[in-house]
Amino acid sequence: IISSLFVIAAYLFGSFPTGYLMGKYLQGIDIREHGSGSTGATNVLRTIGKKAAIVVLLSDIGKGAIAVSLVRFFYAYYPEILPETWKPWLIIITALAAILGHSKSVWLNFTGGKSVATGIGVVFLVNPWLALGTLATFGVTIAIFRIVSLSSIAGAIAVIVLAIILQQPIPYIIFASLAGGYVIIRHSTNIQRILAGEEPKVGQSLQEN
Ligand code: G3P
Repeated sequence: IISSLFVIAAYLFGSFPTGYLMGKYLQGIDIREHGSGSTGATNVLRTIGKKAAIVVLLSDIGKGAIAVSLVRFFYAYYPEILPETWKPWLIIITALAAILGHSKSVWLNFTGGKSVATGIGVVFLVNPWLALGTLATFGVTIAIFRIVSLSSIAGAIAVIVLAIILQQPIPYIIFASLAGGYVIIRHSTNIQRILAGEEPKVGQSLQEN
């Protein structure tokens, strides 16, 4: 029961729709009807502006990090309540629940963002080195191509490859594969636009869908 509470809490943290709320209260719009339709920081940047995008980015990273840190705190303070062997599994299930919550929010009829920021937040709590390597891949890709979605996809591939190279425990490799794979699938329309040469670079607008 305790472990399912952590998973539900993680899903609810992930569901918190900062990007949607920014659109609604700053501009009276439904962000899902603008730009790429995503509630993530990239779409907030192109639809609302820089400050709102920074708030969304930090909040989306933060909610993922908090969701997983609850499990870490619990094990640190109450080590005897749940078996130690469950710990990595509970970490990855809460991490995946937060990622799912962000893109299929219970408050937004199961719509949302593409789970990149929330994903990096949870990866930090799984293994900070994995997160730094993923961020570095994202950073290098965006510096070269100036396309956020392409950089997110590169990061998603990196998290899987790095989990294997860094010889992470099996649950973490499973997590990286599921999370990375999910983020790539969430970018399927972006991939079509990238292949067609139509994906906007940072600062460019996107045809409303
Ligand atoms: O973080 C999401 C990003 O990779 C792509 O967002 O709005 O351009 O589809 P968007």
